[in-house]
Amino acid sequence: MRSTWPYPHWIAHRGGGRHAPENTLAAFRKGAACGFRMMEYDVKLTADDVPILLHDDTLERTSSGTGRAADFRYAELARFDFGSWHSLPYAGEPVATLHSVAAYTRAHGLHSNIEIKPSTGLEDHTGARIARYARELWHGAALPPLLSSFSEPALAAAAETAPELPRALLIEEDLPQDWRERLRRLGCGGLNLNTQYATRELVEEVRAEGVNLAVWTVNDPDRARELRAWGCNAIITDEIEALAGHAANDR
Ligand code: G3P
Ligand code: MG
Repeated sequence: MRSTWPYPHWIAHRGGGRHAPENTLAAFRKGAACGFRMMEYDVKLTADDVPILLHDDTLERTSSGTGRAADFRYAELARFDFGSWHSLPYAGEPVATLHSVAAYTRAHGLHSNIEIKPSTGLEDHTGARIARYARELWHGAALPPLLSSFSEPALAAAAETAPELPRALLIEEDLPQDWRERLRRLGCGGLNLNTQYATRELVEEVRAEGVNLAVWTVNDPDRARELRAWGCNAIITDEIEALAGHAANDR
């Protein structure tokens, strides 16, 4: 196999899985406390082009705000509470920025899988801006962040802006027939697949091509071990407490 996987094999989904408010610095602290040395998180842009961590296009589900995140300036979003929706101990948790996450992860020796999650209609712009921020914020780091996205336009824009950053294409459903061609076109060295579609045959096919493979969101420890045994490079999980032992031994 041509590829090598320089990152940890166990990755905390949205920073701290289901045990902390997703995509906040509190989540990263929880992920790190469970022994995870790599976090996946979703990044999009505010109206004034600040890269923030947020999964949805809209604010309702994971904050005290309402409306589209892309319609707010960062200073406005900073007034909302991104923790209370999860549980009382996290009340008042602020929106996380890519800047704060870069500072935290680099200070603690943690690695990043930045999922570029553009607000609808802003794919190219978001891909280019986040790639540029990632290049600047991880300048001189031992390992650059892995960029991934479901959005092929965002990945293409990221590739044009910062071609040196590693990239992976996220696939929601069954692997399309032309996956090799898509990866080649986007200059992606990896695929991040939905666990529901990750059969043994498919895992072996992808790995035999020397393509890196991460699988999400794997919350059953037996399934996670099975995927690793088949050759998956990395497991992205919400169950960071159940899989803490694996993460802690991931050297
Ligand atoms: O990057 C893997 C996974 O996070 C993709 O799905 O919806 O949880 O961002 P989602
Ligand atoms: Mg994600």
